[in-house]
Amino acid sequence: MENNSRSRDGLFSISEEDVQGHIFREKDLLTISHLPEESRIIGRDEQIAQLAEEIEPVIIGYEPNSALIYGKTGCGKSLVAKYVAQLAEEEAEERGYNLAYGICDCSQSSKEASVIQTIADSMNTPTTGISVPSRGISTDEYYKRLWEILDEAYDGGIIILDEIDHLKSDDVLMVLSRANESEKIDVPLAIIGISNKIDYRNRLSERVKSSFSHREFIFDPYDSTQLEAILRNRNDAFQEGVLKDEVVPYCAALAAKKHGDARKAMNLLKFAGEYAKRKEKDEVSKEDVDAAEKDAEAERLLSLISGLSPHVKYVLKALANLTKNNKENWFRTSRIVDTYEKVCEKEGVDVLSLSGVRDCLNEVAFLSVIEGNRETGGRGVGNYKEWRLLTDADTVIRMEKLST
Ligand SMILES: Nc1ncnc2c1ncn2[C@@H]1O[C@H](COP(=O)(O)OP(=O)(O)O)[C@@H](O)[C@H]1O
Ligand SMILES: [Mg+2]
Repeated sequence: MENNSRSRDGLFSISEEDVQGHIFREKDLLTISHLPEESRIIGRDEQIAQLAEEIEPVIIGYEPNSALIYGKTGCGKSLVAKYVAQLAEEEAEERGYNLAYGICDCSQSSKEASVIQTIADSMNTPTTGISVPSRGISTDEYYKRLWEILDEAYDGGIIILDEIDHLKSDDVLMVLSRANESEKIDVPLAIIGISNKIDYRNRLSERVKSSFSHREFIFDPYDSTQLEAILRNRNDAFQEGVLKDEVVPYCAALAAKKHGDARKAMNLLKFAGEYAKRKEKDEVSKEDVDAAEKDAEAERLLSLISGLSPHVKYVLKALANLTKNNKENWFRTSRIVDTYEKVCEKEGVDVLSLSGVRDCLNEVAFLSVIEGNRETGGRGVGNYKEWRLLTDADTVIRMEKLST
């Protein structure tokens, strides 16, 4: 009772200062979903112009072309599609037309009903008097309401299906692309599909291929100069003078190695800033980028094993200690057990039996955190199993610190 009635004053004490601190000035600029203004977009002028050209008839209510955009993660696909859609919406408004704009991330909503629900909901306005409940009506009914909304309130529409390869079936694409032809609606639709997988086009069924007239765009990865420019254009996310000169080129170089991934570059910069802030530093340096990377790896590892018994952690710690303190990196089960027992003693917990430890080892091997191999020891020794850490020992030790 007492606990429940305790005042909650001070439970939420967050302030702007806590988020931005002395490191950040406008951290939102580094959020992946943030749609930057034109001056911050680097090296995609051509793609923006071409995509705009394909869809532009829809702005004044004429039948547009559709598009499929391909390219690896972080090469600006979502950014370009959203940016063009936003400009189109503004242009339409200036010319006195009403352009609907709906986007669905198919990796979040992959079933037909939820894709249509998401799009209809985002296009709906209070003036239509139509409701789009989040559940409880059939797929057909969702389509019906989408058509009603479009006919009621708009002269044309742009629909972005992001991560389109996650769709359970291509029915969505077929129905949307035939909506005019089959007289479901009177307003034209431009559909922009986006995929990381270039083979997506081969997965389209013949009936979709014939109804979905579209142009394909393939986005190249960025090089380190472009990545550097992308990051520089957002360095006002930081307070003046906080970001050391070395940081942006360093993040750009790391991300260039990872297939020129701008998402990776932006995340490195943001996480480095967060790390420096947490450590109450005055500046963000290369070391903060490295440390932030390693923390992120340790967090991934921690979340990977979070559902397993705490002994999995002790066994991993034992293997990490052995790896750190020895030249070799393969260790027999019996040696791991010895070290594991010391870890348990330190932690003040009871030890598992040999077979319990084996279970733990097998579980993390299943997750590819470690690997095992069976060795034949020869006469008198019998068979034994050796294990090796597949992640770096420091990551395991960092994970330990994160979890306490
Ligand atoms: N050419 C660019 N100029 C500025 N920022 C970019 C550019 N390309 C990507 N970004 C930024 O990088 C991040 C990832 O881009 P995104 O469009 O989401 O990639 P994709 O959809 O291809 O995976 C986003 O925050 C985006 O704003
Ligand atoms: Mg994307």
